Parts: sequence; structure tokens; C-alpha cells
Amino acid sequence: MAKLLSENFYKEMGKLEPRYPSKVALLLPALHEAQKETGWLPPEIMEEIGTYIGIHPAQVREVASFYTMYNLKPVGKYHLKICTNVACCLRGSEELVDHCKKKFGIELGETTPDKKFTLMEEECLGACGTAPAMMLNDDYHENLTVQGLDKILDGLK
Ligand code: FES
Repeated sequence: MAKLLSENFYKEMGKLEPRYPSKVALLLPALHEAQKETGWLPPEIMEEIGTYIGIHPAQVREVASFYTMYNLKPVGKYHLKICTNVACCLRGSEELVDHCKKKFGIELGETTPDKKFTLMEEECLGACGTAPAMMLNDDYHENLTVQGLDKILDGLK
């Protein structure tokens, strides 16, 4: 099977390998690195990771599907993950979700037709003290209001 992951992926894994007790322990960083390249983790990429690590692709999928940070389907250019856990919910995150649904015309878990925005709800992001919190791609946004959220979204190209 032709390799889909880049030379850089294998180079990065080669650098990390000596720091891990076993190759299996590299699974999470491998998923992370692969997702950086492809934006999400299609089955053929998980198969390639399984081959590299030496485990069955089903085991790769089991792990990838456990963590919400791994995308099992394509996501938009801007991936919004709004925390709807208790602290954020009490501080208005459901209003933020509803606002995004209306603004983008999509439901949770969906991507806008222009592939610009994906909207997801997220479990606790560890920012309960500054709830409500959201991740926009890899960046945190906290103490959000509908107005603050609009300002962030309107600044995106
Ligand atoms: S409950 Fe939202 S960050 Fe913890």
C-alpha cells in the first residue's frame, strides 16, 4: 500500500520514538501528527498508522474515537468546539451554541456547505473558572458572550 503520510510524519515519529517506552505508546502523538497533515483521520490513514505502530487498524480507531480531539470526518477551516459541560452551561454556552447554529445554518456536528465552519459541542475544556469556553482550532477563547463570539467570528477570513 502506498504511503499517504509524508516523510515529515515519519521523521517526527523517528524523533519521538526514543522518548517513548514502546512503539504502541506513540499512538496518540502519531494520531496528532497525522491529523495536522490531513485535517482529519480517514480509515486509510488509521490503517497506515496501525502498520507503522504494529497494531490492528481497529485498535487505532478505538483510540481515535475515544478522544474528541481527533476528527473522524472532515472538518471546516474553522472548527468550533464549544464546551457545554456544567460550568459553561451555567454561564450560557447553550446560548452560544444556538447562536452559532442560527448564524451558520447548521446543527451540532455539521460543517457549513462552504467548508468554512464546523460546529461541535465539547466536554470540559479545563477552563471552568473562565466559562463559557470554546476552542477555535487550537486556540482557547474564554468568558465568551454572544457579542464576543461574533467579534471573533467576524474577524475570520
Ligand atoms: S465546564 Fe466548560 S471548561 Fe469546564
